[in-house]
Amino acid sequence: MALHILMRIFGVFVVATVCFFSIYNGTTLFTLHPVLMSSGFLLLMSEAIVAFTSNSFVASNLKYNERLTLHWMLQLSAATLIGLAFFSIYSHKNNNNYDHFVTRHASLGLTTCLMLVGTMCGGIAARYSSAFRKKIKPALLKIIHSIVGVITYTMAIITFCLGIDSEWFRAQSGAKLVTILTYSTGILAILALIQPFLSILTKMRKVNNEN
Ligand code: HEM
Repeated sequence: MALHILMRIFGVFVVATVCFFSIYNGTTLFTLHPVLMSSGFLLLMSEAIVAFTSNSFVASNLKYNERLTLHWMLQLSAATLIGLAFFSIYSHKNNNNYDHFVTRHASLGLTTCLMLVGTMCGGIAARYSSAFRKKIKPALLKIIHSIVGVITYTMAIITFCLGIDSEWFRAQSGAKLVTILTYSTGILAILALIQPFLSILTKMRKVNNEN
């Protein structure tokens, strides 16, 4: 539980700071991009990830099915914000005749968004895994979904750090704050991923022993 509270503190600090420095000169299609991306990935997706762990102070009293509902609702809300964030930067670039996906941030960001779509499809498959029982073990399908989810989240964290290290954001916030935000984001990611990672290892061992 302490890990979850700490994760929230770091999450709110990073997202609130990014939002403040992004929009204090005004809100445009362009400035909506960091606001929505950071809220979607760093706040909502982090919460969705910990919803299944014993660390979660929100979900600790919930039954498995209720946790599942919380998980997909948070994930769907995150995906909605991320979709809008993608649309805002894509439209901004189109309106200004800029080239698309030319920087490391942009190409990794595109890959992360595509991976997110894949993770969500995998989540639906994992939810109805019994239907594929003859082809693949439900437990294995769930492990694959968790692994892809962890990879997608890690990629989002790296993309985010490249985003705050962009020339534009450095000019908004200053280099010192970018360093503080980068370290804080790293800590947030470790706090969010530690339990899901350990639980993947436990489940893999269990599936291995059953074979
Ligand atoms: C994990 C979250 C993020 C993802 C997945 C993401 C994704 C993307 C994508 C796909 C593009 C390119 C769009 C195109 O070329 O049409 C882009 C551009 C951009 N993003 Fe992000 N972004 C994220 C967070 C941020 C943050 C937090 C900032 C700044 C604080 C930021 C700043 C920028 C800037 C300045 C551009 C335009 C320059 C460029 O193409 O690199 N992004 N982002």
